[in-house]
Amino acid sequence: MDRTAQLIARPTQGGIAYDPAVEAQSLHARAARVLEDNWTGASTVPSRGLYPHQWSWDSAFIAIGLRHLSPLRAQTELETLLDAQWGDGRIPHIVFNPSVPLGAYFPSPDFWRSSTAGRAAGAPRTVQTSGIVQPPVHALAAWLVHCADPGLSRARGFLTRVYPRLAAWHRYLLHRRDLGGGGLASVVHPWEQGMDNSPCWDAPLTRITPAPARSFRRADLDHGAPEDRPTDLDYGRYVRLATDYRDAEYADGRGEFAVEDPSFNALLIASEHALARIAHDLGATGTARHARAERLTTALLDRLWDPARGMFFCRDVRSGDLVPERSVSGLIPLLLPTLPREVTAALVRTTRGPHFGLGATTRLVPSYDLLGEAFDPHRYWRGPAWFNTAWLLERGLRTHGERPLAEGLREAVLELADTSGFAEYVDPYTGEACGTADFGWTAALTLDLLHDEGLSDGPGRSEETVPVPCR
Ligand code: SER
Repeated sequence: MDRTAQLIARPTQGGIAYDPAVEAQSLHARAARVLEDNWTGASTVPSRGLYPHQWSWDSAFIAIGLRHLSPLRAQTELETLLDAQWGDGRIPHIVFNPSVPLGAYFPSPDFWRSSTAGRAAGAPRTVQTSGIVQPPVHALAAWLVHCADPGLSRARGFLTRVYPRLAAWHRYLLHRRDLGGGGLASVVHPWEQGMDNSPCWDAPLTRITPAPARSFRRADLDHGAPEDRPTDLDYGRYVRLATDYRDAEYADGRGEFAVEDPSFNALLIASEHALARIAHDLGATGTARHARAERLTTALLDRLWDPARGMFFCRDVRSGDLVPERSVSGLIPLLLPTLPREVTAALVRTTRGPHFGLGATTRLVPSYDLLGEAFDPHRYWRGPAWFNTAWLLERGLRTHGERPLAEGLREAVLELADTSGFAEYVDPYTGEACGTADFGWTAALTLDLLHDEGLSDGPGRSEETVPVPCR
């Protein structure tokens, strides 16, 4: 049995029959095929039907897996996205492919009007984009991509070119998006945080008057089952918020929706640590960036940690209150290497406890509280388990020495990605496939976990613990 097969050749927690020795090679080949089929020549679509353009955080996760197949393609994936960066530093959540018909996805470029409405914010003229952002996974992805082939990266000047762009991106988030004044970045649209219809947004969204249903046509329902997707009422509010932001020429700070989210900010912190490593590789010390990451970690704890409930919560900046909904977002800060011990211990307890059930009632962590009133095992971010959040939690568990739990989660990702056909998301109890199939980041993160040989207990993988290990 080769190394890849050995890596998943362990008994599964759920006791489901599975022959990992036979499946590993085939799983690797099928994941690679998904990424091949979704590759457009310069970037990767999340899915050919439902999401036919380039998405920001999808591309970052996809690059993390793609680096094992082709470090060059992984670098190109990130560089294509960064080529669409706006002058104010924002990285748009969608970069539109001009050869895709306008009706294939909503909202299309003629809705966002980036090159006109976004002119004051420095939107590019040669490519059409959306005007909102997505979680800042990019610097972490760039560092991991570099580590896959440092020789190629240096020969191409990859880090030298991406560093100033990533630094501008973080500056945008830390300065223009500190809407709560406490040092954290706010999202101004549920699509920005990435978990579109999470129950966390239900209360903040009550302030938003939905756009009339007849004023737009959803394209997502051409590809996805309505019961797996957000509702028309959700979409009415998404459209209203995006329209208002566009009509304000994408100026920040005026909208009625502003939320500090734990996973968005945890990813910013993880990426700030990665930027420090990139700076170090380029000859600087990186010390100031690590220090900034520490200040952000302190702000995250001060503003979003709830010790009584043992997890992080969103803060509605407009009301000033924490939103009392338990979302997987509130567990993702486990990714951070320097959280206090009692915080990581509480996060692990909460992940295993009745609200998320990891290793007990669920094999992948659900996106939302199993016991919450709004829980729905099939509807997008209101309960289903997603593979990117599993990847982040696996990394967090390993970072904090929770090896058996991390291993169980890794095995569950590999098995469920396989049995679900690289589903976009799955029912957290049954593993039944939901959303679209052959989903880009599901395939990419499967590849990453298949390749994950530097496993160790203690504070993280080699690229986390050694300042610049791949020099
Ligand atoms: N996730 C959104 C969609 O469903 C957009 O980012 O289209």
